[in-house]
Amino acid sequence: MSKLKLSGVSKAYGATLALRRGDLEVEAGEVHVLIGSNGSGKSTLCKIAAGSVRPDAGEITLDGRPVHISGPQGARALGIGIFYQELSLAAHRTVEENICLTNLPLKAGLFIDRQALSARAARYIALFDGVAGDGFAADATVGDLRADQRQLVEIMKALATEAPILIFDEPTSALDSAQVERFFDILRGLKAEGRAMVFISHRMDEIFSIGDRVTVIRDGETVATSRIADTDQATVIGQMVGEPPARAAQAAPAASAAEEAAGEPVLSVRGLTGPGYSDISFEVRRGEIVGFGGLHGQGQSSVLRAIFGAHPVSAGEVTLKGERLDARSPRAAILHGAAYVSGDRSRDGIIQGRPIIENLTPIHYLRQRLVLARPAALREKARPAVEALHTRFAGYSHPINSLSGGNQQKIVIARWLIDRPDVLLLDDPTKGVDLSAKNDLFSLIRKLAAEGLGIVLYSSEDAELLANADRILVFNGGQVTRELAGDERTRFNLYRAAYEAA
Ligand SMILES: Nc1ncnc2c1ncn2[C@@H]1O[C@H](COP(=O)(O)OP(=O)(O)O)[C@@H](O)[C@H]1O
Ligand SMILES: [Mg+2]
Repeated sequence: MSKLKLSGVSKAYGATLALRRGDLEVEAGEVHVLIGSNGSGKSTLCKIAAGSVRPDAGEITLDGRPVHISGPQGARALGIGIFYQELSLAAHRTVEENICLTNLPLKAGLFIDRQALSARAARYIALFDGVAGDGFAADATVGDLRADQRQLVEIMKALATEAPILIFDEPTSALDSAQVERFFDILRGLKAEGRAMVFISHRMDEIFSIGDRVTVIRDGETVATSRIADTDQATVIGQMVGEPPARAAQAAPAASAAEEAAGEPVLSVRGLTGPGYSDISFEVRRGEIVGFGGLHGQGQSSVLRAIFGAHPVSAGEVTLKGERLDARSPRAAILHGAAYVSGDRSRDGIIQGRPIIENLTPIHYLRQRLVLARPAALREKARPAVEALHTRFAGYSHPINSLSGGNQQKIVIARWLIDRPDVLLLDDPTKGVDLSAKNDLFSLIRKLAAEGLGIVLYSSEDAELLANADRILVFNGGQVTRELAGDERTRFNLYRAAYEAA
């Protein structure tokens, strides 16, 4: 009999149907892998089991008996512990306090028993002895830790619940291989104790090494559950994509006219290596859109920023328009004709609280080496780019923050078009942008390519890449592990390259 079973569970957030029909069944003594592409509803399903999201419909049973999970406390009382993908740590508290946070040992039923707390936390900290890295200590403040170390604390916190059912929602995304191995050793121990575990990961090697069964979820719906021993990577990826592997390989978009008529190389990258990426080599010709694909955080952004002089480089070279770029700074890159647009507007894009015109013109000042310019002349310069993007705003002197996300992003892009660059580096440029603004942006991007710009596009949305890129370089573990060109550009190939072991 299954330990935990969710049947026909659904959940809508407003107009978004996050989970349409989620089924998941976990047995004692098994690691049950849950897999599906981004946004398919995995976290929602886990949160429903852990009581932090209330389902709209469906049934949950424990040991065969229907249960009502009233909330996170209720789930814990029923023996369900969870590792949250977005972590649930208190940044200002110590490692040991965080580990025990869900179940603080009390003295006289009132005061925290510090000694008991330290002793209990120490047991879980010891599990990761030797792999937790410098600065990791029971009394370290969680906010000061690295991303991998915070993820370890969240693992320890989940383990400290000692729950018979443990759910791990992408617990290994920031861990190094030694940490993953240690974690898997721990999971094997828990399996032997008869715990029931759900494990979410995007890594095929991890899944096939630790999993007993795998459930695939697609567009909010459970599509298959198989024993790991009875399936293989291609089958699982086919289930995620929704097409059998044989059929998925056909019908790519035709090679674009731009690709056939591509001009001279305008950007060339050779052996570029630095923190988070290594040995990256590729070339972009005028008129070409080269896509960066793969799971989030595999080095795509770092490479774009490194080309632009905004991320460290330890080896390799960048050539722009035939000239080697020796100085590593955005200023040097801009003066050589490079432009960089990030979807992270709060960090890389807008100048908060300043008028629209000031947000449009900093690059123009730099490239033209202007000191002062007449506002009317600047507006005249900016107008064509602003209009080409259908940017809507009331006046150039209004603050940038008065615009919608999509219109802010159009201003950030228009800023680069006043003086035409040669290479446009797009770092997930449509993050948080609505659909109509997205369409405007991509029409413009294709038009710019047709006019002879070389474009590099990193998108976290596979559909954007497949629809716009002439070639796709798939990043995996900081390296380009595959290049998809022509009719190789299919969802299936993109998924397979993204999800397979680096
Ligand atoms: N709190 C929320 N509010 C609105 N939409 C949400 C919320 N949480 C998730 N969603 C949406 O529900 C869908 C499923 O999300 P999620 O369960 O996080 O997927 P996964 O974990 O598989 O990536 C996505 O489209 C996501 O944007
Ligand atoms: Mg998730």
